[in-house]
Parts: sequence; C-alpha cells; structure tokens
Amino acid sequence: MPKHQRFKYKTHDELLNKANELGLELPFQESIDPLFEEVAIGTKKVVNRFVVQPMEGFDSDSNGAPTELTFRRYKRFASGGSGLLWFEATSVVPEGRSNRRQLYINSQNADVFARLVAETRRAAFQQFGASYEVMLVLQLTHSGRYSKSAGKPTPIITHHSAVLDSLYNLPSDYPLIGDDELDKLQESYVNAARLAAKAGFDGVDVKACHCYLVSELLASFTRENSKYGGSFENRTRFLLETTQKIREQVPGIFVTSRLNVYDAMPYPFGFGVEKNDATKEDLSESISLIRVLQDTGLPALNISIGNPYYNPHIGRPYDLPIAGGQTPSEHPLCGVVRLLNITGKLQQMFPDLPIVGTGYSWLRQYFPNVGAAIITAGKATLVGQGRGAFAYPDSVIDLANNGKMDPHKVCITCSACTQIMRDGGKTGCVIRDKEIYGREYRKVRTNVLRMIK
Ligand SMILES: Cc1cc2nc3c(=O)[nH]c(=O)nc-3n(C[C@H](O)[C@H](O)[C@H](O)COP(=O)(O)O)c2cc1C
Repeated sequence: MPKHQRFKYKTHDELLNKANELGLELPFQESIDPLFEEVAIGTKKVVNRFVVQPMEGFDSDSNGAPTELTFRRYKRFASGGSGLLWFEATSVVPEGRSNRRQLYINSQNADVFARLVAETRRAAFQQFGASYEVMLVLQLTHSGRYSKSAGKPTPIITHHSAVLDSLYNLPSDYPLIGDDELDKLQESYVNAARLAAKAGFDGVDVKACHCYLVSELLASFTRENSKYGGSFENRTRFLLETTQKIREQVPGIFVTSRLNVYDAMPYPFGFGVEKNDATKEDLSESISLIRVLQDTGLPALNISIGNPYYNPHIGRPYDLPIAGGQTPSEHPLCGVVRLLNITGKLQQMFPDLPIVGTGYSWLRQYFPNVGAAIITAGKATLVGQGRGAFAYPDSVIDLANNGKMDPHKVCITCSACTQIMRDGGKTGCVIRDKEIYGREYRKVRTNVLRMIK
C-alpha cells in the first residue's frame, strides 16, 4: 500500500509524476473552459459546472432555523460563482438532528429558510447581474445512527452492525427503528420538501449517503421480518418511495439524491462492497438503484462514498486526521482517484443523467484542471467542492478572471473543520476564515481538552 504523504506539489508536473509513481491515472488538462459550460438539470439550467457540496456549519438556532452565520456562508457561496449550491444536511424531524445546531426545517421556521433563499439569490444577483440564476438544492436528512439532537448520542438504527455498534456500545437488544416509524418518516420528508418548495429552493435531496439513516437502510441486509430489510427491493424501498411521494405531492420542485454507492465497510454491514473484501467496491446494486431512480424521473445525482465516522479518508482524502484519528495507510491521491473512478464508471453507464462528482479538495489549485479533464472524458457532468468551498468560496470568480486558483487561498485538508464539528462547535475554515473559525476552533478544543483532563 503506498504510504500516506501530505500534499507537497509545487507544479502540476510534480503532482502528475506522483500519480504516475503510484500507478494512478489522474486526468488533467490545461483548458478549464468545459467547467464554464451551462448544464441542464431537468427543465432548469445551471450556469456552469461548479457545485458547492453540502457542508454543515452547525450554526442553527435551537429550533433549527438558519442564523447570521448560516446566511453569511450561503451569501459567500452565492457571490463566489458556483452555479449550483447544494445546501447542507437539514433534518426533517427533531430527533434526527446530528447536533443541537444542525438545521431542521419545520413549519415554525420555514419563513427563515425562505429569507435564506431570497438573500442567497440576491447575493448572486448583486455580484453577477439581475439575469443570473443560481440553482439551490436543499439536502434533507435523518442522522440515524449518528443522531445527537440533545447534545449526546441517541442512535436510531435500522440494523445491528458488527462494525459500528461498538462505536456507541450498543447492546445486542438495542431496538431498531420500526417499519411503522419509517412509514411515518416518509411523510416527514414530504412535509419538509413542501416547506423547501415554499421557501423557494429549486430542488431537494433525499440524502442517502455517509451511512446516515437512508444510507444505512441500503445496507440493512440483516434486518429481518421488515419491508425495509433483506432484499434489494426492501432495502431501497424507503428512498424510492420517498422520492416518488415528493415528486407526486410537491409541485414546483425537483427531487434528487446524494447517494453512497460504496460504504467501504464489511458485508453484510456495508452497501456496494465486494462480499469477501470491503476494500473493493461492487457497484452492481448501486447501478440497479440508479437505473430505477433515473427511470422514475430523478433529474440528477450526487455521488459519494465511505462513512465519515468509520473511514473518513474514503469520502474526503486528507493530509491530517482529527485528534485521535488515524493517519490512513493509503496515499490521499489513491482516495481521490478512487472517488473519480467510481463516479466516472457510473457517469459512463448513465450518460444522460447529470452526475455531480466529489472529493476534489485535496487537489488544491489543480482541482479545476482535473475537473475539466473529468468533464472532457465524460466521467462527471458537474464537479463539487466541499472543504474547498469553506476555504475559498470565491474560487470560481478567480478562475473566471485569472484562469487559476490562488494556492494561498486553497483548503489544506487539515481536518480542522471536521474537528470543530466533532467538538460540538460552529464550523468553517479555521485556516482561511480564521477571524471566526480560528477562534471557534480554539474555544471548543479547549473545552473538550478540559473535560478530558
Ligand atoms: C465539516 C464538514 C461538513 C460536511 N457536511 C456534509 C453535509 O451536510 N452533507 C453531505 O452530504 N456531506 C457533507 N460533508 C462531506 C462533503 O460534502 C464532501 O463530500 C467531502 O468533504 C469531500 O469533498 P471535498 O474533498 O471537496 O471536501 C461534510 C464534510 C465536512 C468536512
């Protein structure tokens, strides 16, 4: 296994040589023009191929409404030039929040979400003119096993996992969420989608990634005597029925999904894995699921992999782990190329379905050249930045004006944004937005260290 190393590539040749040395094919091209092409999602247009990936800031008020910091984040993204802003995980029920400050959309605060949408669009108009349209998608979630709505873990699980139950010392008789509760939860997604439509979002995402509840259901092979467990049809039922209900009952909004196609956790506890070797993906079920989603009218898909609590380097290759986290055994570039290849395979199988690719932030200033080559090769339709957008929200403006990103403004994949999140603070980029988040990092880290002592 190639040794983990931090990013140290001063030229793109150095980066490409490293890829070569690791035996990896890293697409790369000089011209970044393809990234500035318009793309259609259903009947709507995205002005370019840049996406801000969903990134939780954990700065809502106690009832889940966006606050000043939430407004600041999305206004910065909107005036930064990405054509599609994929808003962060927003809970559909109070008990499904992963944090006391995770956004939660409900009838009491829908007007604040409407204001967030209006101000986000206004920020884009002010920057780019009145005819400019930014596309806004809201990610709807239930945090499932990672629910922590009152500040301490209150896992809501769909199956017992020999891999994950020990994280929270769950006993073998810990109850599973029942089928009737899952039936009811579908209605909560529909209600949340209705509120999102009223607030002015273009689309909603029924989040099915990173092993939160809907993603965990996809891997509920061992869930017995349940219409949501066992067979492929049962495991995918929640996602398919919920997206279908939103489509039928909520006019004026499209419904999409951010889908984990490979959990990288051992079978029968992980989705999309080879049965005897979880280090390898088996995309056959993901392909069947995407085919059904496309047939039922899903206009776009956002692909991700891994479990941020179990194997965080799989979904977000990094230089440094969080405190107490392990340095991965693989080189981060292996992780980046895995993400590019898996997404590429799926996009090539479904050329008419716009797919958003992820995992570009580790590439820093070379992201656009790799992204453009990926587009040229037909291995994604849009390219997303997650941590990169926290660090450098206006990178697309710099790319439009100068043709390149400033290496002094890029994300350095230090995991400090994840650290704040795990420590229970409000998160953002500690390095490039340090007035706010440097201070927050120090405050919550100090508290945690004091508690450990
Ligand atoms: C602080 C933080 C918050 C995140 N929040 C979300 C989220 O709300 N929804 C989601 O699907 N992914 C979330 N992610 C994952 C990112 O969207 C993205 O998939 C990941 O960081 C890899 O992309 P990148 O290399 O561009 O950062 C989060 C990641 C981090 C570090």
